[in-house]
Amino acid sequence: TVGRTRFVNRLAIPPLATGRRDTDGARVYSLRAAAGTRRFKPGRPTRTWGFDNGHLGPTLRAMRGETVRIDVRNTLRETTTVHWHGMHLPARMDGGPHQPIPPGGAWSPTWRIDQPATTLWYHPHPHGATARHVYRGMAGLFIIDDPADRRLGLPARYGVDDIPVIVQDRKFDGDNQFDESRPLIGGVGLIGDTLLVNGTIGPYHDVTTERVRLRLLNASNARTHRFALSAGRTFTLIGTDGGLLPEPYETHTVQLTPGERAEVVVRLRPGERIVLRSMPPDLNVNFWNSRFEGGDDAFDVLELRAAPRLAPSAAPPAALAPPPRLAPFGPGRVDRRFKLSGHKINERRMGMDRIDFRIDRDRTEIWELRNTNGTPHTFHVHDTQFQVLSVNGAAPPPELRGWKDTVYARPGAPIRIAVRFRGYADPNHPYMYHCHLLYHEDQGMMGQFLVTEPGR
Ligand code: C2O
Ligand code: CU
Repeated sequence: TVGRTRFVNRLAIPPLATGRRDTDGARVYSLRAAAGTRRFKPGRPTRTWGFDNGHLGPTLRAMRGETVRIDVRNTLRETTTVHWHGMHLPARMDGGPHQPIPPGGAWSPTWRIDQPATTLWYHPHPHGATARHVYRGMAGLFIIDDPADRRLGLPARYGVDDIPVIVQDRKFDGDNQFDESRPLIGGVGLIGDTLLVNGTIGPYHDVTTERVRLRLLNASNARTHRFALSAGRTFTLIGTDGGLLPEPYETHTVQLTPGERAEVVVRLRPGERIVLRSMPPDLNVNFWNSRFEGGDDAFDVLELRAAPRLAPSAAPPAALAPPPRLAPFGPGRVDRRFKLSGHKINERRMGMDRIDFRIDRDRTEIWELRNTNGTPHTFHVHDTQFQVLSVNGAAPPPELRGWKDTVYARPGAPIRIAVRFRGYADPNHPYMYHCHLLYHEDQGMMGQFLVTEPGR
């Protein structure tokens, strides 16, 4: 059954950050990590953390080829970091646990945008405290544009027919505060009973065009969302974590584990109302059966309300983007294996002073991911977008045929991915790989590697 929500609040659209041009041509944005309050529901305001406005953050946006600089200031009373999830960039700009920003401190990473158009996001990554910082509200989108993408005629008017949809579950206590004391059910971390969509409870969006593009981000700490539309309607999946799919894929459902994104196009008829839902996930884990409270329920996410007359919009073209071609699909050699089990990767917990492996820059490796216990784990690696080669020995389904930076490691279904770390070698600054269930990450289900010059 679907928990029925009354759609009483207009969907908040995260503001587009207003950047400026530096004298050297770089696009400069500023972000201020700050505590704040937000009135999510009647009664007391909720104490939150966020960027600029105290909850979530502005949408950053840049064109492929541009150099960006982000001036981050931390006005919180504790150390945080800002990680650019899915971004190809030098390791010391990555914003992982090795780039802490102390209270009152500032950090100004800069890099050149060098990847296809897509929807990335940013969030804190402080060692051992990521779950709490994200849960309090620190997260925002980073949209990459590409001239090639602009020519496809996809819905592209931000906030009108190109809609960010940041989905997070939260649990409020009796005083309207985010409940952080929630027991860690099933060992996955915080599971909430209320959905926030761009920080809005029970949201609707007024649609004025025949098609809308939704940029879905699962920014929940632990909950997997399996998105579907009401009345059995289909939608068109056009993009995944790192870019547009080779071709559009008409489907009833797309499942996103924490950290994953999908871009979908929904077609509406004049005057109708369609509800985007989060259905019980399909994770193939055993503990959901044991009176699991909350991880397998359904929600109404967002109501799309079509105007009586809709401006026409073009259907997505049959070819969207070149397919990933790091390696041929199917099994082949394996260079590295990752066993995900018991909040550890390959039986180890994160060691801030330990480098788990080194890898040559610009070398393609095949990695095998294997979840060997009955708990959900989702594998994320920094700096790169990878290609899924096989799932349980078979070619990947259509939704895994585009660029990915996070993939669900289904128990009993080993996944092979082809990875390559382009360009930036740095013998001193590591990148991370980890489970993106934030409680697991904080427990140390993470490792780090160096990208080095070939032959060193
Ligand atoms: Cu979105 Cu290392 O994280
Ligand atoms: Cu995990």
